[in-house]
Amino acid sequence: MKVVAISGSARKGGNTAIMLRRVLGVLESHGIETELIELAGKKAQGCTVCLKCRETKDRQCHGRKDAINECIAAAAEADGIIIGSPVYFADVTSETKALIDRLGYVAGANPGMLERKVGAAVVVERRGGAVHAFDSIMHLFMIRQMIVAGSRYWNLGFGAAPGEVEGDEEALLTMDVLGENMAWLLERTAGAR
Ligand SMILES: Cc1cc2nc3c(=O)[nH]c(=O)nc-3n(C[C@H](O)[C@H](O)[C@H](O)COP(=O)(O)O)c2cc1C
Repeated sequence: MKVVAISGSARKGGNTAIMLRRVLGVLESHGIETELIELAGKKAQGCTVCLKCRETKDRQCHGRKDAINECIAAAAEADGIIIGSPVYFADVTSETKALIDRLGYVAGANPGMLERKVGAAVVVERRGGAVHAFDSIMHLFMIRQMIVAGSRYWNLGFGAAPGEVEGDEEALLTMDVLGENMAWLLERTAGAR
Protein backbone atom coordinates (compact mmCIF):
# COMPACT_ATOMS: atom_id res chain seq x y z
CA MET A 1 0.00 0.00 0.00
CA LYS A 2 1.19 3.48 -0.75
CA VAL A 3 0.22 7.01 0.28
CA VAL A 4 1.39 10.06 -1.65
CA ALA A 5 1.38 13.47 0.03
CA ILE A 6 1.54 16.54 -2.17
CA SER A 7 2.50 19.92 -0.74
CA GLY A 8 1.25 22.99 -2.59
CA SER A 9 3.47 25.26 -0.51
CA ALA A 10 5.82 27.72 -2.22
CA ARG A 11 8.43 26.92 0.46
CA LYS A 12 10.31 23.62 0.31
CA GLY A 13 10.48 22.06 3.77
CA GLY A 14 8.12 24.71 5.17
CA ASN A 15 5.32 24.29 7.69
CA THR A 16 3.11 22.36 5.27
CA ALA A 17 5.87 19.82 4.56
CA ILE A 18 6.49 19.46 8.32
CA MET A 19 2.82 18.62 8.92
CA LEU A 20 2.72 16.18 6.00
CA ARG A 21 5.92 14.43 7.13
CA ARG A 22 4.36 13.94 10.56
CA VAL A 23 1.38 12.07 9.05
CA LEU A 24 3.63 10.06 6.73
CA GLY A 25 5.79 9.00 9.70
CA VAL A 26 2.76 7.43 11.38
CA LEU A 27 1.76 5.65 8.15
CA GLU A 28 5.31 4.31 7.76
CA SER A 29 5.15 2.89 11.29
CA HIS A 30 2.25 0.77 9.97
CA GLY A 31 4.40 -0.53 7.10
CA ILE A 32 2.70 1.72 4.53
CA GLU A 33 4.95 3.08 1.78
CA THR A 34 4.94 6.88 1.46
CA GLU A 35 6.11 9.61 -0.89
CA LEU A 36 6.18 13.38 -0.40
CA ILE A 37 6.03 15.58 -3.49
CA GLU A 38 6.74 19.27 -2.89
CA LEU A 39 5.63 21.68 -5.61
CA ALA A 40 7.89 24.45 -4.26
CA GLY A 41 10.19 25.77 -6.97
CA LYS A 42 8.44 23.74 -9.66
CA LYS A 43 6.09 24.86 -12.41
CA ALA A 44 2.47 24.10 -11.53
CA GLN A 45 -0.04 25.65 -13.91
CA GLY A 46 -3.81 25.53 -14.21
CA CYS A 47 -6.08 23.56 -16.55
CA THR A 48 -6.02 24.70 -20.21
CA VAL A 49 -9.43 23.13 -20.93
CA CYS A 50 -7.95 21.27 -23.92
CA LEU A 51 -10.29 18.40 -22.95
CA LYS A 52 -7.76 15.85 -24.29
CA CYS A 53 -8.10 13.83 -21.08
CA ARG A 54 -11.69 13.12 -22.09
CA GLU A 55 -10.56 11.78 -25.49
CA THR A 56 -7.51 9.77 -24.47
CA LYS A 57 -8.86 8.47 -21.14
CA ASP A 58 -5.29 7.44 -20.26
CA ARG A 59 -5.19 8.98 -16.76
CA GLN A 60 -2.90 11.77 -17.98
CA CYS A 61 -3.11 15.54 -18.46
CA HIS A 62 -2.07 16.52 -21.98
CA GLY A 63 -2.63 20.28 -21.79
CA ARG A 64 0.51 21.04 -19.79
CA LYS A 65 3.87 19.47 -19.06
CA ASP A 66 4.89 20.47 -15.53
CA ALA A 67 5.06 19.15 -11.97
CA ILE A 68 1.31 18.52 -11.81
CA ASN A 69 1.71 15.69 -14.34
CA GLU A 70 4.03 13.93 -11.86
CA CYS A 71 1.41 14.42 -9.11
CA ILE A 72 -1.38 13.01 -11.30
CA ALA A 73 0.69 9.92 -12.09
CA ALA A 74 1.53 9.40 -8.40
CA ALA A 75 -2.12 9.86 -7.33
CA ALA A 76 -3.26 7.34 -9.96
CA GLU A 77 -0.95 4.69 -8.47
CA ALA A 78 -1.51 5.46 -4.77
CA ASP A 79 -4.04 3.96 -2.33
CA GLY A 80 -4.13 7.17 -0.29
CA ILE A 81 -3.66 10.82 -1.23
CA ILE A 82 -2.92 13.70 1.14
CA ILE A 83 -3.05 17.24 -0.22
CA GLY A 84 -1.41 19.90 1.94
CA SER A 85 -1.53 23.64 1.44
CA PRO A 86 -0.62 26.81 3.29
CA VAL A 87 -3.49 29.27 3.57
CA TYR A 88 -3.16 32.16 1.12
CA PHE A 89 -5.90 34.78 1.38
CA ALA A 90 -8.17 32.38 3.24
CA ASP A 91 -7.85 29.68 0.55
CA VAL A 92 -5.36 27.23 -0.96
CA THR A 93 -2.28 28.34 -2.93
CA SER A 94 -2.46 28.63 -6.71
CA GLU A 95 -0.21 25.54 -6.99
CA THR A 96 -2.69 23.53 -4.91
CA LYS A 97 -5.62 24.80 -6.99
CA ALA A 98 -3.82 23.77 -10.19
CA LEU A 99 -3.47 20.28 -8.70
CA ILE A 100 -7.14 20.13 -7.64
CA ASP A 101 -8.39 21.25 -11.06
CA ARG A 102 -6.16 19.08 -13.23
CA LEU A 103 -6.18 15.93 -11.08
CA GLY A 104 -9.94 16.31 -10.62
CA TYR A 105 -10.62 16.71 -14.35
CA VAL A 106 -8.37 13.84 -15.42
CA ALA A 107 -9.96 11.60 -12.77
CA GLY A 108 -13.42 12.63 -13.98
CA ALA A 109 -12.53 11.33 -17.44
CA ASN A 110 -11.18 8.06 -16.00
CA PRO A 111 -13.69 6.23 -13.80
CA GLY A 112 -11.96 4.13 -11.13
CA MET A 113 -8.91 6.39 -10.90
CA LEU A 114 -9.66 7.90 -7.47
CA GLU A 115 -12.88 6.24 -6.29
CA ARG A 116 -12.64 4.82 -2.75
CA LYS A 117 -9.05 5.87 -2.29
CA VAL A 118 -8.38 7.34 1.13
CA GLY A 119 -7.94 11.12 1.14
CA ALA A 120 -6.92 13.75 3.66
CA ALA A 121 -6.48 17.51 3.53
CA VAL A 122 -3.87 19.32 5.65
CA VAL A 123 -3.58 23.10 5.91
CA VAL A 124 -1.32 25.58 7.71
CA GLU A 125 -2.23 29.15 8.52
CA ARG A 126 -0.71 32.11 10.31
CA ARG A 127 -4.04 33.26 11.72
CA GLY A 128 -7.23 32.77 9.67
CA GLY A 129 -8.91 31.04 6.72
CA ALA A 130 -7.74 27.46 7.31
CA VAL A 131 -11.17 25.86 7.40
CA HIS A 132 -12.06 27.47 4.07
CA ALA A 133 -8.84 26.19 2.48
CA PHE A 134 -9.50 22.76 4.01
CA ASP A 135 -12.95 22.75 2.40
CA SER A 136 -11.48 23.66 -1.00
CA ILE A 137 -9.36 20.49 -0.97
CA MET A 138 -12.31 18.47 0.32
CA HIS A 139 -14.37 19.42 -2.77
CA LEU A 140 -12.01 17.33 -4.92
CA PHE A 141 -12.14 14.29 -2.63
CA MET A 142 -15.91 14.33 -2.31
CA ILE A 143 -16.80 14.73 -5.98
CA ARG A 144 -14.37 11.95 -6.92
CA GLN A 145 -15.94 9.55 -4.41
CA MET A 146 -12.92 9.23 -2.15
CA ILE A 147 -13.13 8.13 1.49
CA VAL A 148 -11.95 10.94 3.72
CA ALA A 149 -10.00 10.46 6.95
CA GLY A 150 -10.45 12.92 9.79
CA SER A 151 -8.78 13.52 13.11
CA ARG A 152 -9.53 14.86 16.58
CA TYR A 153 -9.68 18.40 15.14
CA TRP A 154 -9.76 19.73 11.57
CA ASN A 155 -6.37 18.97 10.01
CA LEU A 156 -4.81 22.40 10.49
CA GLY A 157 -1.82 23.97 12.17
CA PHE A 158 -0.68 27.46 13.12
CA GLY A 159 2.64 28.89 11.99
CA ALA A 160 4.04 31.73 9.89
CA ALA A 161 7.84 31.50 9.62
CA PRO A 162 9.20 28.15 8.38
CA GLY A 163 9.29 25.63 11.22
CA GLU A 164 6.93 27.60 13.46
CA VAL A 165 4.22 24.93 13.25
CA GLU A 166 6.52 22.64 15.28
CA GLY A 167 5.45 24.75 18.27
CA ASP A 168 1.77 23.95 17.71
CA GLU A 169 1.54 20.80 19.81
CA GLU A 170 -2.15 20.30 19.15
CA ALA A 171 -1.55 20.40 15.37
CA LEU A 172 1.15 17.73 15.64
CA LEU A 173 -1.12 15.54 17.75
CA THR A 174 -3.89 16.08 15.18
CA MET A 175 -1.48 14.85 12.46
CA ASP A 176 -0.62 11.76 14.54
CA VAL A 177 -4.29 10.84 14.93
CA LEU A 178 -4.88 11.54 11.24
CA GLY A 179 -2.06 9.12 10.37
CA GLU A 180 -3.59 6.45 12.62
CA ASN A 181 -7.04 6.94 11.08
CA MET A 182 -5.67 6.79 7.52
CA ALA A 183 -3.78 3.59 8.35
CA TRP A 184 -6.92 2.11 9.93
CA LEU A 185 -8.96 2.87 6.80
CA LEU A 186 -6.27 1.68 4.39
CA GLU A 187 -5.75 -1.60 6.24
CA ARG A 188 -9.48 -2.35 6.29
CA THR A 189 -10.14 -1.43 2.65
CA ALA A 190 -7.02 -3.03 1.13
CA GLY A 191 -7.98 -5.17 -1.84
CA ALA A 192 -11.42 -3.55 -2.09
CA ARG A 193 -10.39 -0.78 -4.49
C1 LIG B 1 0.55 35.34 -0.23
C2 LIG B 1 0.30 34.86 1.17
C3 LIG B 1 -0.98 34.91 1.68
C4 LIG B 1 -1.25 34.46 2.99
N1 LIG B 1 -2.53 34.50 3.45
C5 LIG B 1 -2.79 34.03 4.69
C6 LIG B 1 -4.13 34.03 5.19
O1 LIG B 1 -5.10 34.40 4.52
N2 LIG B 1 -4.35 33.58 6.45
C7 LIG B 1 -3.32 33.14 7.24
O2 LIG B 1 -3.57 32.76 8.37
N3 LIG B 1 -2.05 33.08 6.78
C8 LIG B 1 -1.75 33.53 5.53
N4 LIG B 1 -0.48 33.47 5.05
C9 LIG B 1 0.58 32.85 5.90
C10 LIG B 1 0.87 31.38 5.54
O3 LIG B 1 -0.29 30.60 5.47
C11 LIG B 1 1.82 30.76 6.58
O4 LIG B 1 3.03 31.50 6.62
C12 LIG B 1 2.11 29.29 6.36
O5 LIG B 1 2.82 28.79 7.47
C13 LIG B 1 2.98 29.05 5.14
O6 LIG B 1 3.23 27.66 5.02
P1 LIG B 1 4.62 27.12 4.42
O7 LIG B 1 5.67 27.29 5.50
O8 LIG B 1 4.39 25.70 4.07
O9 LIG B 1 4.94 27.94 3.22
C14 LIG B 1 -0.19 33.93 3.78
C15 LIG B 1 1.12 33.90 3.25
C16 LIG B 1 1.37 34.35 1.96
C17 LIG B 1 2.77 34.28 1.41
